[in-house]
Amino acid sequence: MSRIAYVNGRYVPHRDGSVHIEDRGYQFGDGVYEVVLIHGAQIMDCDGHLDRLERSLAEMDLPMPVSRPCLLMIMRRMVALNHIKKGIIYLQITRGVAQRDHKYPANTVPALVMTAKHLHFKDVMSEDGVSAITVADERWARRDIKTIQLLANCRAKQKAAEQGAYEAILVMPDGSVSEGSSSNVWIVSADGELVTREASHDILNGITRRSVAQVASERQMKIVNRNFTVADMLNAKEVFVTSATSVVTPITKIDDTVIANGKMGSLSKALRADYLEKTPSVSAR
Ligand code: PDD
Repeated sequence: MSRIAYVNGRYVPHRDGSVHIEDRGYQFGDGVYEVVLIHGAQIMDCDGHLDRLERSLAEMDLPMPVSRPCLLMIMRRMVALNHIKKGIIYLQITRGVAQRDHKYPANTVPALVMTAKHLHFKDVMSEDGVSAITVADERWARRDIKTIQLLANCRAKQKAAEQGAYEAILVMPDGSVSEGSSSNVWIVSADGELVTREASHDILNGITRRSVAQVASERQMKIVNRNFTVADMLNAKEVFVTSATSVVTPITKIDDTVIANGKMGSLSKALRADYLEKTPSVSAR
């Protein structure tokens, strides 16, 4: 079954999807993106992702290339054309094509590209837990904008992969954990608090993070938004990461330290189940 991509108004075979060599996304990383989970014929957290997309665009002085209902229609069409039952939609908006010049060009038409792919949820739903490494956070100062400029994230994830780890946990110069290279990090602290870093310019305010906080509060759990150190994390009862692709994934080993008893914690398990069951979504059809 051939994959279909959406490129600037056209649905094309995935292998033929292409953009111009002077697209500013290609030359400068001048664009924003979203990754949205498709699960049980639902577009999970759809409104949250589209709200954040609009925010990222506004922060980058980029216009929305199509209306929001139109974007949703294209997303649904992509799910149907690619026969996605469990998977992701990747959507990217760049400033478009212009002669290379750092400052923003006038009157450039933004480019909208979308792909969709199946995900094997075996890993995401596993209770085995995965390992992570800690690495220095080398990124720019506006990590709250979901830009496609992800070099520091790629470098960190590559280091993790080279050490057989699932995720790289990024550490700020003050020793606090910011987030994962493509996820938000949570701990259940030694004294039982559910802790994640406060949303600020230092991290991407994850849409999954927000919904997990919601389901946790429905369980009468208090969420503490504060910085935590690598030592806090290594001594935690549970560590997990959240993202559209990892949902709630337990981290059971970090660098050389096994977290707690090395198994997925009961809270991580409950939050994962609640997220998949209760998170607001819209029909993918
Ligand atoms: N990344 N932090 C970073 C740096 C991320 O790249 C992501 C998601 C998250 C979690 O955000 P959300 O819950 O909205 O997915 C946090 C996606 C999955 C990616 O780049 O593939």
